[in-house]
Amino acid sequence: MQKMTIFTSVFTIAFALSMPLSVTFSAALSIWTFPSHAETPEALRERQEQGKTLMITKGCSSCHQLTKLPPAKGLVGPPLDNMAAQSYIAGVLPNSRENLTQFLLDPQKFHADSAMPTPDITQQEALRLVDYLWKE
Ligand code: HEC
Repeated sequence: MQKMTIFTSVFTIAFALSMPLSVTFSAALSIWTFPSHAETPEALRERQEQGKTLMITKGCSSCHQLTKLPPAKGLVGPPLDNMAAQSYIAGVLPNSRENLTQFLLDPQKFHADSAMPTPDITQQEALRLVDYLWKE
């Protein structure tokens, strides 16, 4: 009888302890993992600003027109307004953020006769340019 009581109380204490512990643990875990998945508006704005700067520094603006970026008035390539709403990239590649990133890294891989020279950009810079081009 006494053994049973001890067993029960040990079990109860263990259970009482384990509940808050697991709750605390999962709360701590979610706080820890949350920022890496969260997209704050500020972070997105910052990436778009970097993309905007790259449009100029990487020479895109000398070949492309973009209404929201007045210095970009090149007429060698097509205007890049409403890029997010366009169905195809360069008329050959279904439009998506991923495909646009790949196109910017190597246009001729997708359109062999493309007059667009391969930009001198890193994968990260291509992602920033896409963030900016897809901005409303
Ligand atoms: C020397 C001129 C030139 C430069 C510099 C240039 N492009 Fe282009 N771009 C073109 C031409 C020409 C096309 C059309 C290519 C095709 O249809 O294959 C094009 C196509 C594109 C397209 C597809 C547009 C559409 O309507 O499908 C995007 C997006 C693009 N360029 C973005 C950029 C970005 C971003 C940069 C800078 C990193 C850049 N371009 C630099 C000439 C240029």
